[in-house]
Amino acid sequence: MAANSEALKRAAAARALEEVESGMRLGLGTGSTANAFIELLGERVRGGLDVRCVPTSEATATLAGQVGITLATLDDLPELDLTVDGADEIGPDLALIKGGGGALLREKIVAAASGAMVVIADNAKLVGTLGRFPLPIEIVPFGAEATRRAVLRLAEAQGLAGEVRLRARDGHVFVTDGGHFILDAGFGAIPDPAALACGLAGIPGVAEHGLFIGLATKAIVAGDGGVQVLTRSANTES
Ligand code: A5P
Repeated sequence: MAANSEALKRAAAARALEEVESGMRLGLGTGSTANAFIELLGERVRGGLDVRCVPTSEATATLAGQVGITLATLDDLPELDLTVDGADEIGPDLALIKGGGGALLREKIVAAASGAMVVIADNAKLVGTLGRFPLPIEIVPFGAEATRRAVLRLAEAQGLAGEVRLRARDGHVFVTDGGHFILDAGFGAIPDPAALACGLAGIPGVAEHGLFIGLATKAIVAGDGGVQVLTRSANTES
């Protein structure tokens, strides 16, 4: 099962490579599926493909450097042609949940600076309604508990319920590349992601949330039956 999942991620990543043209300025996502893309892109770069890439995390920067990809900062390249990234869930209209890897703030800034965002995933990530995966919310450390309670009040006002936990790893609070904390909000089904996104954006202390709405232009989803390409407007290309 795990081996199959890796093969599917690689299949989606390989299809995404077809979207890349020489001379492009690329955003590189974070996570295991994005890593598959970075490794394949590295092979093409070593073969002569000319691209300049902005990483969305320190982990991605390290891998991209190791495979020979030329890196730049978003200040060097404030406008990008294309970002290729993974997702934790892909819902209707290519609304996403992201941030399982803790890189959502940089991922969203990079995606928003890109002319197009292609999401790559195995088909286990496709959902009819977002929310099975706990929603990551990046918060500033100051007043973390007050921010957590504000998130709970917002959820209650929107008819959502569930635990909101401060993310920990190895017994320590998880800290993002930007020095923030992450709340994982287990609300279950989120019937109105846009309303929740709007509410979260209004809470002082929330740096960013993992609802990516209107950012993905295409999703490349690999399953046992092959690779499916979903577009935001039409929802199936091939
Ligand atoms: C990183 O912060 C996330 O947004 C990832 O894109 C997401 O968690 C997908 O990761 P995998 O490709 O490892 O499932």
